[in-house]
Amino acid sequence: MDHFIDRSGLLHAEDVPLTEIAARFGTPCYVYSRATLERHWHAFDRAFRDHPHLICFSVKSNSNLAVLNVLARLGSGFDIVSVGELERVLAAGGDPTTIVFSGVGKRRDEIRRALEVGIRCFNVESEAELTRLDQLAAEVGVIAPVSLRVNPDVDPQTHHYISTGLKENKFGIAIQQAESVYALAAAMPHLKVVGIDCHIGSQLTDLAPFIDALGRVLDLADRLCASGIAIEHLDLGGGLGIRYRDEHPPEPAAYAAALSHALANRPYTVILEPGRAIVGNAGVLLTQVEYLKHGPHKHFAILDAAMNDLLRPALYQAGHEIVRVVADTDADPSRYDLVGPVCETGDFLAKDRTLALETGDLLAIRGAGAYGFTMSSNYNSRPRAAEVMVDGDRAYLVREREPLTALYAGEQLLPLDEAHPT
Ligand code: LLP
Repeated sequence: MDHFIDRSGLLHAEDVPLTEIAARFGTPCYVYSRATLERHWHAFDRAFRDHPHLICFSVKSNSNLAVLNVLARLGSGFDIVSVGELERVLAAGGDPTTIVFSGVGKRRDEIRRALEVGIRCFNVESEAELTRLDQLAAEVGVIAPVSLRVNPDVDPQTHHYISTGLKENKFGIAIQQAESVYALAAAMPHLKVVGIDCHIGSQLTDLAPFIDALGRVLDLADRLCASGIAIEHLDLGGGLGIRYRDEHPPEPAAYAAALSHALANRPYTVILEPGRAIVGNAGVLLTQVEYLKHGPHKHFAILDAAMNDLLRPALYQAGHEIVRVVADTDADPSRYDLVGPVCETGDFLAKDRTLALETGDLLAIRGAGAYGFTMSSNYNSRPRAAEVMVDGDRAYLVREREPLTALYAGEQLLPLDEAHPT
């Protein structure tokens, strides 16, 4: 459930009409609902209340400082994949001891910074990374807490670009090699083995692959325990799907119940790394119709938002619900492709949608809170959109629309010289 509600034909974010937000902050503009964000985080936290756990919000899904700060105030942990995300969490007031660091390609400077601030765990993805981490921990003079990210070879039955736990994927260490790599880790003087980590993919709408993966992870934990390597936590990654249009993903409570059942009272703390399920439906992308173009074969609605603002439709053919902000209209419905101004045929936000539209109409692209702004770019020299957070009857600008000068800030001209005097 979210707090984007139609009241008397006018779409609101909590108590603020989206028309007001468009008038005040312009479009395209991401709008987040604080109440929705908090509700979804609590749904996870409450679902695991009978089991020691830590919810580590996956920062890649939405890294706006206000979003991170709202979650930090609830006591959330964070799952990061770069030093950039680490600095964001720290700047937002996140507690470093609740941070887990995932990712296949951690650079030395990234590891060093994470060691210096004292994060909760490094989710290590290769033998080479273990060696690097051990060396750097020695240099910094600390013991690094580690989990190995294991690849359980489970098909998450989602879009192949967001499947990560199959044997052909670059992620993690094959589960059948894991015991020997754990033995190496346990013997390294500046590492302390604390957990097992596993993330099989994103936008899963079925619980079976999660349970299958957990079963394989528990078998590994038992084998490690038998060989004297004690595990404190299991990090089961993120991946729970959301409803974009007609999907029926399980609720966090059902997900927690299934995981708890499979855990069968084992003592491990459970770490989870949800992103989309917390923030996906806590955000919309507000956009305006710039032009309508009626061709002999197709009707196009050309919006002021484009693939550079929301890449998911172009990259994954993702279907987002798109609704009118003001329900009432005199226009007749047509079947439209909703496209952006970017010079790419792949620049669409939705295809074949029946909508009644006029130039200037405001639309809300729903389910845009996760992997929306974070995947946006400046392609076609388009400034990135503003971000607004609504809290009750107040709307706050949490990131200004990028000014045009920001597009080329930091760029330099070549100097004039003898060979090139003008
Ligand atoms: N943990 C790890 C190690 C991950 O790689 C991911 C997502 C998550 C947690 C969070 O997964 P979530 O709970 O949000 O499903 N850009 C794509 C999604 C890519 C997901 C990458 N990893 C999209 O827009 O659908």
